[in-house]
Amino acid sequence: MGDEAQYLFRPMTILDVEQVCALEQICFADPWSEKSMRDEIEKNELAYYGVIVPVEDTSKVVAYGGFWGIIDEGHITNIAVVPELRGKRLGQMLVTGLMEIAKMRNIERMTLEVRVSNQSAQRLYERMGFETQGIRKKYYEDKEDALIMWCELNKEGEDK
Ligand SMILES: CC(C)(COP(=O)(O)OP(=O)(O)OC[C@H]1O[C@@H](n2cnc3c(N)ncnc32)[C@H](O)[C@@H]1OP(=O)(O)O)[C@@H](O)C(=O)NCCC(=O)NCCS
Repeated sequence: MGDEAQYLFRPMTILDVEQVCALEQICFADPWSEKSMRDEIEKNELAYYGVIVPVEDTSKVVAYGGFWGIIDEGHITNIAVVPELRGKRLGQMLVTGLMEIAKMRNIERMTLEVRVSNQSAQRLYERMGFETQGIRKKYYEDKEDALIMWCELNKEGEDK
């Protein structure tokens, strides 16, 4: 561990969008456009996005993620960590930050979709208290199936 002390979680701002979109391009086959991401920050009142940054340079984005808060449910939209810093629990720090914000917004449970082949992400989500509760067939553009995972926020992580 130890690495966590060198990074912090903060809200994403419009100034982060360029770096976030560069990371989207690296991480996903169907990345969000810069316009979509700007709209999420500027226009979508349901959306919350956070970033992980080094303490010594809080303008440098090393991970980002977000969710839409719909009544008492939080729908996680994206989660990504720069490739060179994966496996250091920054994803965990990010999801923890999002969950804390969600709780403050009276969200009771969170959900997400993840590729059936994405073992790293599934391990992270399971560690955070998510459980697979369904499957969306051919959910992605390349027709891969998605697992649908859910986490009850009042139960998550307390005994981990
Ligand atoms: C999924 C993702 C966010 C996880 O972030 P992370 O900071 O690496 O998360 P963690 O450090 O908690 O590691 C998650 C698991 O992946 C493993 N892992 C993934 N990449 C790794 C790497 N490059 N080096 C070491 N371990 C790695 C970890 O060992 C860990 O498994 P474990 O719990 O059995 O130890 C990150 O891999 C990522 O950005 N992937 C590309 C985008 C993506 O798939 N997003 C999720 C869409 S649903």
